[in-house]
Amino acid sequence: MRIPDFNEARTRDKREYKRLVGKYNGKKYFIKTYGCQMNEHDSEVISALLEKLGFERVDNYLDADLVLLNTCSIRENAHNKAFGMLGRLKHLKLDKKDLIIGLTGCMAQEASVVDEILRDYKFVNFVCGTHNLNELPSIIDKSIESNKQQIEVYSREGDLYEGLPVVRTNNYKAYVNIIYGCDKFCTYCIVPYTRGRERSREKEDILAEVDELIKDGYKEITLLGQNVNAYGKDLYDDYNLGNLLEDIALKDIPRVRFMTSHPWDFNDKMIEVIGKYKNIMPSVHLPVQSGSNKILKLMGRRYTRESYLELFHKIKDTVPGVAISTDIIVGFPGETEEDFLETMSLVEECKYDNAFTFIFSVRRGTPAEKIKDNTSLSEKEERLQRLNEVVNKYFLENNQKLVGTVLNVLVEGVSEKKDMYYGYSDTNKLINFTSSKELMPGDLVDVEITSAKTWSLDGKVK
Ligand code: SAH
Ligand code: SF4
Ligand code: F3S
Repeated sequence: MRIPDFNEARTRDKREYKRLVGKYNGKKYFIKTYGCQMNEHDSEVISALLEKLGFERVDNYLDADLVLLNTCSIRENAHNKAFGMLGRLKHLKLDKKDLIIGLTGCMAQEASVVDEILRDYKFVNFVCGTHNLNELPSIIDKSIESNKQQIEVYSREGDLYEGLPVVRTNNYKAYVNIIYGCDKFCTYCIVPYTRGRERSREKEDILAEVDELIKDGYKEITLLGQNVNAYGKDLYDDYNLGNLLEDIALKDIPRVRFMTSHPWDFNDKMIEVIGKYKNIMPSVHLPVQSGSNKILKLMGRRYTRESYLELFHKIKDTVPGVAISTDIIVGFPGETEEDFLETMSLVEECKYDNAFTFIFSVRRGTPAEKIKDNTSLSEKEERLQRLNEVVNKYFLENNQKLVGTVLNVLVEGVSEKKDMYYGYSDTNKLINFTSSKELMPGDLVDVEITSAKTWSLDGKVK
């Protein structure tokens, strides 16, 4: 792997780019995105790069000349899904020799995956890492021209690239990256290795992007980062997520969201700002991972059950009507039944509005790989099931409390059954609803809630 000179890379890329614009007119591409919102947004950038080259998007990989997998490494099943897809593509390529297959995203940053691709997946034409997406056009071009496998992965992050094109998935809500990477090094997590250190975008660049989105009529902006609460630390002494949220809230944008928040970097100014502005959505994703101090320490999470709960209640008390969601891992190495019961009791206390629950998945090269694990998979599965029963109970209970209230909803479209519209409330709840007036995606409407389910609410436009 080579260490880049980013200044050189930048100028060279511009020149190369010009040469490549429209070169592949008429060719078709298919992109499959795994993983988190960061990857979804990267796919929007990748799509724009490909479309500049002339590629046109198709929804079925069988119709494509270029298939790109934008991968995720967070848990083993994400890995397996991508390798499963590669298996299918291998067969397809037997019939379709000119098919170009590429891999981007977090798996591309894993040395062991790259080794495996080089050794066992020779039909993969290129691998492009998360730190050099800007080079994707020339990597694709080289792999088509030379017919040789191209592996371009930087092991170290460099500068941020501003000004890359983007094809937004829709025209009413948009992702805006504010910080890349993660410095937290939770002992189970692969992200700091695949996404590099925390690097904030300059506030001027972010605000300019937001202005552009407002001009284009966007209604909702989600500020993205693996840990948005660390925003600005690497750039400014006195400008953090609270300041950025405030600067954006003062603009003419109806909805601002942000994710994900690490409890460690959450300060009072941020909570105050979230509570103060109506257009900052009262919805906070605050991953707890475990309710046991012993396990939190082994995970390297930098907070205790007590300090987490203090923060949780401060947010609840300061932000009117806030919905708090979380992530929880069960079966971390060393987790006993007692530790697990501490997670259960924390959930009983927090009564989350939403929760993503996972069984610990060992990631190669992370410190948790070395911690002794005595718990069987079936026991972990049983814990997950018990946990899910409790979290689901609270989703339903929280939703039932909303029956009879009126929620503001951003319309997304018509539901699968075609008899209702659907959209998300300010607290990020899925609402299915009827309306006598015809609505368009991107409309904001007040919906009276008529009934509650575990994962959604039904209602009608007032
Ligand atoms: N940056 C976010 C989380 C990003 S990953 C944060 O820390 O708040 C999303 C979630 O995946 C994590 O919160 C965690 O619950 C889960 N996760 C990460 N690594 C995992 C692993 N090795 N096994 C199981 N779940 C994992
Ligand atoms: Fe992973 Fe922890 Fe960073 Fe979240 S904060 S991305 S869990 S290392
Ligand atoms: Fe997955 Fe990478 Fe996101 S590992 S969760 S795609 S940052």
